[in-house]
Amino acid sequence: MKSLYQTSISSLPLLGHGKVRDNYAVGDDKILIVTTDRLSAFDVVMNEPIPGKGMVLNQMSDFWFEKLGHIVPNHLTGVAPESVVAPEEVEQVKGRAVVAKRLKPILVEAVVRGYIIGSGWKDYQATGSVCGIELPAGLRQADKLAEPLFTPAAKADLGEHDENISFAEMEQRIGAELAAKMRDISIELYKTAADYAATRGIIIADTKFEFGLDDNGVLHLMDEVLTADSSRFWPADSYAPGMSPPSYDKQFVRDYLETLTEWKKTPPAPALPADVIEKTQAKYFEAIERLTGEKLKVA
Ligand SMILES: Nc1ncnc2c1ncn2[C@@H]1O[C@H](COP(=O)(O)OP(=O)(O)O)[C@@H](O)[C@H]1O
Ligand SMILES: [Mg+2]
Repeated sequence: MKSLYQTSISSLPLLGHGKVRDNYAVGDDKILIVTTDRLSAFDVVMNEPIPGKGMVLNQMSDFWFEKLGHIVPNHLTGVAPESVVAPEEVEQVKGRAVVAKRLKPILVEAVVRGYIIGSGWKDYQATGSVCGIELPAGLRQADKLAEPLFTPAAKADLGEHDENISFAEMEQRIGAELAAKMRDISIELYKTAADYAATRGIIIADTKFEFGLDDNGVLHLMDEVLTADSSRFWPADSYAPGMSPPSYDKQFVRDYLETLTEWKKTPPAPALPADVIEKTQAKYFEAIERLTGEKLKVA
């Protein structure tokens, strides 16, 4: 399978390269978002592509936008990405791009946690709380929480780590009304998605949403939604509290990187061995098939 590490589309003005996505302006009110095969781990972009990963992420987001469209408007326009680039550039966008409404990003990421894992688990062990929200004593790693928690994070500049903030801090930054709306919608999105995923044998342990405002100030869901990059997906059949469950994402890469004691989790990224790349690719492909019931449509 062919991979795409970085786009080179000269028929549109480049807005920027994110860690994973390349954004181009389409007129002044839309953007072409191309999901490449780049992988970032610990916020450092690896040098090797994971072939097809961008298509998996793009198709996962599309799947969820469709399923969750009744809860909140989203950034999709329905314009075909192939129609906004030059003929010789079509290969770069096929199956891995969207034409989205160009929104004003809200610089607070909406994290929802249904289970206690990762940084939340570390926080709990140290403080008995997660992001300042006190939890009952005696929780085990990966335990399900009584109710999903909303734990906002300030969106960091490229190369920086996102920073957890309290809900009060979020209210200060974007206003109490918008903060409450984002929180309520995020929890509803999470619960609806988690209920669906459960029917497919997948636990959505946690996830991160991004929102933006259109010219009329209407809140929209944007960016990627409930992908294996923005969420922790666990196979339900191997779930057991008390340990960190295997997940459908870049866990192989993270585990490999943890073995490199010399690497300080800062650029430049170390080289990834071929078997780590292959296993990671297989996980992404397995994830979309298990979630949607259909194999990745390779465009
Ligand atoms: N509809 C939209 N309007 C404006 N910006 C968007 C929209 N959808 C996504 N974005 C932004 O595009 C970028 C996507 O690139 P990505 O590689 O995910 O970046 P990052 O490294 O910040 O995660 C993000 O900064 C995201 O906030
Ligand atoms: Mg992103």
